[in-house]
Amino acid sequence: MGWGWWEQRQCSRWASSHSFHRILALTLMVWGGTWGSEAAQGRGNRGSGCDLFRGSWVADQSYPLYNSSTCPFVEREFACLRNGRPDLAFAKYLWQPLGGGSCSLSRFNGRVFLERMRGKTIMFVGDSLSRNQWQSLTCMLHSAAPDAKYNITRQGDVSTFAFTDYGVKVMLDRNVFLVDVVREPVGRVLKLDSIQGGKLWMGIDMLIFNTWHWWNRRGPSQPWDYIQEGKQIYKDMDRMVAFEKALTTWAGWVEANIDPAKSKVFFQGISPSHYNGTLWGEPSAKSCLGQKQPVPGSTYPGGLPPAVAVLKGVLSKIKKPVVLLDITNLSLLRKDGHPSIYGLGGRTAMDCSHWCLAGVPDTWNEILYNLIL
Ligand SMILES: *[C@@H]1O[C@H](CO)[C@@H](O)[C@H](O)[C@H]1NC(C)=O
Ligand SMILES: *[C@@H]1O[C@H](CO)[C@@H](O)[C@H](O)[C@H]1NC(C)=O
Ligand SMILES: *[C@@H]1O[C@H](CO)[C@@H](O)[C@H](O)[C@H]1NC(C)=O
Ligand SMILES: *[C@@H]1O[C@H](CO)[C@@H](O)[C@H](O)[C@H]1NC(C)=O
Repeated sequence: MGWGWWEQRQCSRWASSHSFHRILALTLMVWGGTWGSEAAQGRGNRGSGCDLFRGSWVADQSYPLYNSSTCPFVEREFACLRNGRPDLAFAKYLWQPLGGGSCSLSRFNGRVFLERMRGKTIMFVGDSLSRNQWQSLTCMLHSAAPDAKYNITRQGDVSTFAFTDYGVKVMLDRNVFLVDVVREPVGRVLKLDSIQGGKLWMGIDMLIFNTWHWWNRRGPSQPWDYIQEGKQIYKDMDRMVAFEKALTTWAGWVEANIDPAKSKVFFQGISPSHYNGTLWGEPSAKSCLGQKQPVPGSTYPGGLPPAVAVLKGVLSKIKKPVVLLDITNLSLLRKDGHPSIYGLGGRTAMDCSHWCLAGVPDTWNEILYNLIL
């Protein structure tokens, strides 16, 4: 078996839902059948009371896990050092969960990851924050196994990074809302209860979903003209309500289509932005530009973005096992981790939404690794 630690962690997070926990425990037993043989190894000596998502950042010269200038395929958008970012300290941090040594993360080992996932498919589904995490993982794996052959291909919205020697595919499906946007005579319609895009997710062994950043877009960068729910068409609606309805549609997709014995489902939590220094106790800061250190300690003064509560509410109602990769708090502390003027737009832009690579998404993947070990 070997999933005890997992259940306990879920239990503490979702203690309110006893029936949910029971179902989760049962499904994990099934899951253990296909994935379980090596699972026990991963439990290591980590205490059962550990919450990997509460902690603080500790300077550690053994990071980053890879040199981004030797990760040939990292996109310009995330390649901060290549774009001239002068300070390097932001990449030299370790995430230390509360509880000290016995709660520490196992350091990412790319070869172990590739062996664990041999013959399996991994797919990130979502917006550019998913692309950020996908690129991070491919860099982490490539640098761990630089001699392993790889092949990057793209078909439509789906990119596939294949480690051919291992039969491992790390895929990205660019899909900013998860639900569909359909071009119709009236214009582009965001359909809150339609999720045809899910055809691409069938049969994938490990899925990591994300959506949020596009829900608040207005004006020219809003990629739809109308919102539809059922037969009703709206010019607009409360964006948080629309987000919740779409997530509920996605949850229905999971219930209907996921076989927990085959597929493991994660949700990449809400990735925070840093455009307002008041939220980290520095009112004069109007962006993340020039930030060189994380917020010390474990608490972000500005609190959580409201989207987190909406997401957790929807996840708490899903009966199939879905694990929240709850990266919001740890990323909130990383006001120093964004490209600022060392991103896609260079000096004419200010990117405090995406993350430099190497950088914060490596920790998201290091936690993911600890969860599947
Ligand atoms: C995240 O931060 C909020 C606000 O600082 C806090 O209430 C919450 O307990 C934190 N959660 C975790 C998992 O650290
Ligand atoms: C990364 O690799 C480049 C090219 O090989 C090298 O010049 C640079 O010093 C390396 N950077 C770090 C931080 O190791
Ligand atoms: C890369 O993948 C494509 C699509 O699966 C395949 O046609 C091609 O032969 C592969 N190339 C290599 C070098 O493996
Ligand atoms: C920054 O956050 C503070 C505290 O929530 C808020 O009062 C202020 O309006 C925000 N500033 C901007 C420019 O959004």
